[in-house]
Amino acid sequence: MVTREEMEKQEQYTEMIRSLPHKPRSYYVVTYGCQMNAHDSEKIAGMLDDMGMEAADVREEADFVIFNTCCVRENAERRALGNVTWLKEVRKNKPEMIIAVCGCMIQEPGMAEKILKQYRFVDLAFGTANLHKLPELLYETLNSREQCVRVEEADLIAEGLPVHRLRQDAAYLTIMYGCDNFCSYCIVPYVRGRERSRDVSVILHEAENLVQSGVKEIMLLGQNVNSYGKGLPGNPSFASLLKQLDGIGIPRIRFMTSHPKDLNDELIEVMAGGKHILPQFHLPVQSGNDEILKKMNRHYTREQYLNRVRKLREAIPDIGLSTDIIVSFPGETEEQFQDTMSLVREVRYDSAFTFIYSPRTGTKAAKMEGLIPDEVSTERIQRLIALQENLQQETLKRFIGMQEEVLVEGLSRRSKLAVSGKGRHAVSVTMDGTEADIGRILSCRITGVKNNTLMGERI
Ligand code: SAH
Ligand code: SF4
Ligand code: F3S
Repeated sequence: MVTREEMEKQEQYTEMIRSLPHKPRSYYVVTYGCQMNAHDSEKIAGMLDDMGMEAADVREEADFVIFNTCCVRENAERRALGNVTWLKEVRKNKPEMIIAVCGCMIQEPGMAEKILKQYRFVDLAFGTANLHKLPELLYETLNSREQCVRVEEADLIAEGLPVHRLRQDAAYLTIMYGCDNFCSYCIVPYVRGRERSRDVSVILHEAENLVQSGVKEIMLLGQNVNSYGKGLPGNPSFASLLKQLDGIGIPRIRFMTSHPKDLNDELIEVMAGGKHILPQFHLPVQSGNDEILKKMNRHYTREQYLNRVRKLREAIPDIGLSTDIIVSFPGETEEQFQDTMSLVREVRYDSAFTFIYSPRTGTKAAKMEGLIPDEVSTERIQRLIALQENLQQETLKRFIGMQEEVLVEGLSRRSKLAVSGKGRHAVSVTMDGTEADIGRILSCRITGVKNNTLMGERI
């Protein structure tokens, strides 16, 4: 854990920035990537609030713009760097603007040097390990004309950072950081560091505070939540943590992401017996072929995966199921790809996030032979998406006639008299309602399916 002295030092820097006459007055955080990054951005915003800055409506007008980046696939990285470079042009009309880049991309090997050489206009850059040091790093940046670039190994947990939440009705709660799985294609273990779990008591305390502040839904976060507890006294399991959280009265609890290899019966039982744990599961399969799964270092077979799905459905009928799939892993043949197609047909997911394999420097897979040509990959992913969309239309029909509770996120894009949000099964629902319903949980009867969304009538 980051020491109390270190956190206090950061508080002093926060105070020092507050009283700087030339401090930036407004900020804008641009976020890429997963929920982890989204939550980190909420912490960044929280720290900047504490320094006396205000959130700007648009990035072009902010005095301090910070990009929280992702590097899980090459296009994520390219998009982030493209937008950072575009801001350099914007700054020509606003020379006092400070540009910062942080997050996973900065943690990649060689990136610090690249920022120092090719991105001279970036004022401040730091990796995921240094998030809590933002006050100190910003103070340094404001008081020197030099580029400030800081990257360290991520292996600690910083407790007590302020959080500026994006939503009042729903909140993220991190239960573990990092990842030790080293799936052969994945950069995350390299940029997010070793797996480390937060103490049960700290998590429960945070959850209680969130409930008291009126939060209706908590999303537990971790790269692999169901391996929670490693290294903690008594090795508490994710299932036991979930059970305790279920007992404190949060209306809705969900979590992300789970690894199929660690999905045990204990967890399924706790979910089935829970009062507030939503009947939904995101269970990335990646591939339906055993040989590819082995090369991916996923530690389960197609049959074991299907077995877990069966068990989940036995215990929680109608559970909402979603997944992640990678097509064109090095060496993937048409037959092996067909195994993924048939698995998708067999499972019938409510939604699937599909990706073309993207080589990441430093990972095992990046050194494997058999890179699949772009045309083949594009064609494969199109077939997979078409299949999933067809199946989804059918799969979602099982909800018709059922009652569903919806946490309303906003007005529907189509009508001012309709609202949309997520049901208990993690599927989007559009129903009758008005602006006043945003942030409420509403009951409805499902009447139909339209473009991967359920249509509901308020009860
Ligand atoms: N920890 C989570 C999320 C990892 S990143 C998990 O294990 O599920 C989210 C998804 O991105 C992964 O599930 C995978 O499908 C995809 N992904 C990761 N690395 C990738 C790569 N190099 N190329 C293509 N897709 C990738
Ligand atoms: Fe990446 Fe695998 Fe860890 Fe997920 S479990 S973050 S895919 S290494
Ligand atoms: Fe991207 Fe980092 Fe998340 S690489 S997917 S933002 S953990």
